[in-house]
This record gives sequence, structure tokens and C-alpha cells, in this order.
Amino acid sequence: MRKRELIAGFSKLDRLQKIDKVLHHIQEEQNIKAELESYRHTNPQVQKLFDEFSENTITNFFMPYGISPNVLINGKLYHVPMVIEESSVVAAASNSAKFWSTRGGFKASVKSMHKIGQVHFVWEGDGAKLHYLMPDIKERLIKRTALITSNMRARGGGILDIELVDMTAQLDNYYQLKATFDTRDSMGANFINTCLEEFAAELRMFFLECKHFTDHERDVQIIMSILSNFTPECVVECLVECPIDDLAGVDDTLTPLEFAQKFEKAVRIAQIDIHRATTHNKGIFNGIDAVALATGQDFRAIEACGHTFASRNGRYSSLTDVSIENGVFKYTLTVALAVGTIGGLTALHPLAKRSLQLLDNPNAEQLMMILATMGMANNFSAVKSLITKGIQLGHMKMHLLNILNHFGATLAEKEAAVEHFKTHKVSFSGVEDFLICIREKEVPNTI
Ligand code: MEV
Repeated sequence: MRKRELIAGFSKLDRLQKIDKVLHHIQEEQNIKAELESYRHTNPQVQKLFDEFSENTITNFFMPYGISPNVLINGKLYHVPMVIEESSVVAAASNSAKFWSTRGGFKASVKSMHKIGQVHFVWEGDGAKLHYLMPDIKERLIKRTALITSNMRARGGGILDIELVDMTAQLDNYYQLKATFDTRDSMGANFINTCLEEFAAELRMFFLECKHFTDHERDVQIIMSILSNFTPECVVECLVECPIDDLAGVDDTLTPLEFAQKFEKAVRIAQIDIHRATTHNKGIFNGIDAVALATGQDFRAIEACGHTFASRNGRYSSLTDVSIENGVFKYTLTVALAVGTIGGLTALHPLAKRSLQLLDNPNAEQLMMILATMGMANNFSAVKSLITKGIQLGHMKMHLLNILNHFGATLAEKEAAVEHFKTHKVSFSGVEDFLICIREKEVPNTI
């Protein structure tokens, strides 16, 4: 293997040169090159689109695109596209969706869609004066961005408020302009950031021009202007409920009441223990992220916000809550998340566009409800498995094909393995033994 070297001017190289540069020290160079090429799209126009989504693109990275059918949300049936590599996620969501489809389905609602952006600045001056002048500042900021916000205002959105936040007690001379936006059906990141940068420029001008300031007070240091991915007002609530007796059939080892009570304990644990809460919420994001990816959302923003929201009461906790009252089992998920159904990748990525079509072209509010529902569907299945059969049974069954592929199993071997492992516990070594046995024409001894 040749020594790996620093590559100067990498972004200026063309795609094949980039591949040469990164692979030249690797032994299997030619095989890897061929493989990278094989994942490129056959239609050059589509490939160009993908190449231009990002920088230094050399090929595409495939992920499975699946459907979780029969998801009943507020009385409407969806077959929800999910993009995810984890074997059991689509199956878990589908099981849960099927179960709740005969028990009233999922009910979801959106509380608000307001988003926050901040201009962080440092200023050594009389804070009371700044507070007093804030209405003038606000007026100038709104005026300055009138052109930028005109389309958004025509759609019913725009800048809702701008307030001055005095943070000087926490950090010397530190203030914020905290603006609230309504970006309607768009995620609005670019819109918000553009407005904020204009605010910052106008603020600088204001300090220079305003006659109320001393010379010393004309100096402002803009630290940064950026939206906040914490959108605690973009809140969606999702719930399932049914009489406890209707939980019959959810598991054959527990009575409906035992199931409900054990489920409740599991959720309480996720509410009080951060280690469990993190994993519990990860299961929720299995569903949310998969739909976010399929519909071209910024899943990093969604996750960041969700986890901050889970800490909103001062300690990281479960995003779900459960109650058993008057013989009714009620399970709720409350999560803050911001999505867009116009702009961004939603119209550009061919499959994101198709996903939205499969979902009847939802607006942002509807998509928030779909995402939260799929989070809840996944979480319900996960907690159900955890408190009954354990997670590995279903998980490893779904993972079986991955293990078989790892060992290069043929179609016939896969068929035999799927049959065999219907009644045997799946494990990595168990599958390996099975394959060794059938390859040697022996009867496998997997337990
Ligand atoms: C695995 O991807 C997700 C779970 O760990 C979630 C949970 O523990 O609730 C099964």
C-alpha cells in the first residue's frame, strides 16, 4: 500500500481525478473504482442533479426505500415511505400501524409552527437605552427586509416578532435580537438566515446613525446571525388510546391489563433514567428519521431539536407519556420538529418528490403529524417487544438476510435458512454454523 498524502486543491479536480487521488494508495483500486461507477445513475441528467447536491461527489450511496402500509392518522389512511438501513424499523412501524388501525388509529395535532432566529451581538453601552430604542430598531429591521419577506407574507407567513434579549448577566455585554418567523410550508432556513444577516447589517447602521448614542456606544460587534434549530413552538402531539380490553392480542404471554401496566412502567423508566430515555427516544427517531429522509427533510435539524425538546424541563427525558385511567390505555408523544414540504430537496430529489406524492402532497403541518406518528408507531413496537419477547427475536429475524449476505449465501441457501430459522434462534454464529452444515450437507444443529 502506498502512503496516504495530503491532497491539495481537491475540490477543483474532476470526479475521476478525485477518485484516482483517494484510491491510489489502496490495493483493490480497480475493483473499488468499478464498484463506485456501478452506483452511478444511468440517466446523466439525474446523476448531475445528485452530483450537484453536495461537494466532492464521486458516486451515490444507496439506502433501502420501503413502505409502512396502513397508517391511520386522524381517520386518513397513509402508506408511508421510509428510508432506513436498520432491518427491523419498517416492520416494527408496520406492525404497530396495523395494530392501531383497528383501534381508532393515531390522532395527531400541531400546536404551532413558529421558528426562531437570533442575531448574537456584543455591545458596551447603556442597556436601558437599547431597550427604550427597541421599537425603532424593530421598525427598521422590518422595513429593511420588506422585499425579502414579501413572498412569504403573501403566503401568510413572515416575521412575527423581534425582541431584544439581554444576556449581559450571563456573558459580558452580550445581547440577542431574537426573531420569530412563520415560514409556512417551507423549512425556511435560508429565508430566516437571509433576514437575520440583513438585521445584523441594519443594526450596525442603527448604532452608527442614532443620535441617542455616545461615540463609545456606536461600536457593536456582531458575533453571528443564525436560525435556531430548537423550535419549541413547532410542536406536534400524537396519541393512541383504547379500552384496556382492546389490547387483547397484542401479546400472548400477558393479559391486556398486565401488558398495559408493564408498558406504563417501561415508559416511567424512560422518564426518570437518562440512559433509558436516550434509547427510548432513539426508537422514536427510527421512525421520524426514516420518513424525514424519504421526504427530503433535514433530519439532523429534526433530531437536534427533538433531543433538546426532550430536555426542556431541565433533564433529558422520554418524549412519550402514558396513562391508564378509567380502563383506558392512552399513549402520547409530544415532540418539537420543523419540516418543509416546499423548497429544499423536496422538489429536487426525485424520490423525495415521489414520497410527498405518495403522502398526497401534505403541507408542513400534515407532514409533522406523519413524522410524529411514525415515531410513535416505532416506539410502541419497540417497547412492546422489550416488555414481552425481547427485542432480539424480531430484530435478528429481520437481520437474518444481512447475515446470510455477509456469508455470501446463495438463493437456495437463503430459502433453506429462512425456513430453518423460523423455529430456531437467529445469531451470527448460528447462521454461520447453519451455512457450514448445509454446505457440507449436514443437518444443522442450531439451537
Ligand atoms: C433500536 O434501533 C431501537 C430500540 O433500542 C428502541 C428502544 O429500546 O426503545 C429497540
